[in-house]
Amino acid sequence: MSNLVIRNGEIVTASQRYVADIYCEHGRIKAIGQELQVPQGTEEYDARGKFVFPGFIDPHTHVRMEFMGTFAADDYESATIAALCGGTTTLIDFCIPNRDESPLSAFKTWQEASQGKACSDFTWHMAITRFDDEVERELREIVSRGVASFKVFLAYGGALGVDDEALLGVMKLARELGVVVTAHCENSEMIDTLQKKLVDEGKLGPEWHEPSRPTFVEAEGTRHFCAMARVTGAHGYIVHLSCEEALKEAVEAQLQGANIWIETLIQHLVLDHRDAERPNFEGAKFVMSPPLRDKRNQAPLWAGFDKGMIATLGSDHAPFNMAQKRMGEENFCLIPNGIPSLEDRVRVFFTEGVQKGRIDLHRFVDAASTQAARIFGLFPQKGTIQIGSDADLVVYDPTVKETLSVDTHHMNVDYNPFEGREVEGRCALVTVRGQIQVRDGEFVGEKGIGEFLKREPTHF
Ligand code: URP
Ligand code: ZN
Ligand code: ZN
Ligand code: ZN
Repeated sequence: MSNLVIRNGEIVTASQRYVADIYCEHGRIKAIGQELQVPQGTEEYDARGKFVFPGFIDPHTHVRMEFMGTFAADDYESATIAALCGGTTTLIDFCIPNRDESPLSAFKTWQEASQGKACSDFTWHMAITRFDDEVERELREIVSRGVASFKVFLAYGGALGVDDEALLGVMKLARELGVVVTAHCENSEMIDTLQKKLVDEGKLGPEWHEPSRPTFVEAEGTRHFCAMARVTGAHGYIVHLSCEEALKEAVEAQLQGANIWIETLIQHLVLDHRDAERPNFEGAKFVMSPPLRDKRNQAPLWAGFDKGMIATLGSDHAPFNMAQKRMGEENFCLIPNGIPSLEDRVRVFFTEGVQKGRIDLHRFVDAASTQAARIFGLFPQKGTIQIGSDADLVVYDPTVKETLSVDTHHMNVDYNPFEGREVEGRCALVTVRGQIQVRDGEFVGEKGIGEFLKREPTHF
């Protein structure tokens, strides 16, 4: 690998903005300054007129997932190429054992699926779908192998979901070990009841998905999880918070001293429940949980970013092809939940957030990169531009306008939820540990160079 100097770009981090050269050597940032002298043979890139951001981090993806009777459509190669084309250089995926599977067995499956295939760096949140002595022993082992976050589902009871006894066990263990517990906060039993009622009434199309899990059901799950964090003292992270009602619950818990971070998704910021009402089963493309909401929820979510109550932006990338979505053609409860979005997360956030004046450039970088690194034990290796950090860099040209489409995206799925939407900016150059992986929005790099990132527990 040759060394690289990126000259005259406008460097933007969560807290700084200045024009300088960045010299990368052996995968790290070695020097930052004006008119840097570099060794002969160093590759030169002129970033004048462009931004240079730290590589973006997606804290929530499902590259590999067995779910609702099928499998997510990407693999580590296709997903990381798509991520890189959109400026994401680190993924935090979910390692999810089946109920009857041991955590270490799932860990091995995820290792086999990713190593030698991933083109960006990655790590996992370890999901817990059952909690007993054997699971606890293995979780300790997995934390010692470099996984510093857990995941629990309050939704999907009978499949991935856990009951309160298991939830308390997980959170006490997390507190002891100093790892973060991430949680999908929707009340499973309430959803079961509402789904049954709607199905009994013959309400079977994708447009009934949102009414089967209304905002108060998510607010209830959020309040419940936050109370568990208060009882146990564990650090909690609410994934994919979708609505004002749940946001108020989480912020209330923060005010009471609970250690809670909040994530929301690009989908919830720009799409809404009318998308799931599109005719001819097209609405199925937009079935995910928590559901796309009424548009009135979006202003509070943007304000949550702007005011720092919401920490991170995720994609919850969960790609299912239309043939898979059609498993629920007769009954919305059987539509595989999920929307593919890891490739477009950053550019839609930049366009709708920064360019429309809802957040500033620093909050943009903070929410799409730095906060995830801080919360999940990757900072300052990832999430910023400073000497010694990994040379994961995104040279972003804000003057290029592109239209998002399934015809040009790199995700291995046959629709794009943002089809036809114009975005401002393209990733002119993307590096992973100093290696050029993307030029002008296209993958030009080396496959399989992505590394598993070992993380230390940090939240005691
Ligand atoms: O609908 C979603 N979000 N699918 C992926 C699984 C999850 O709940 O995150
Ligand atoms: Zn979820
Ligand atoms: Zn998810
Ligand atoms: Zn392409």
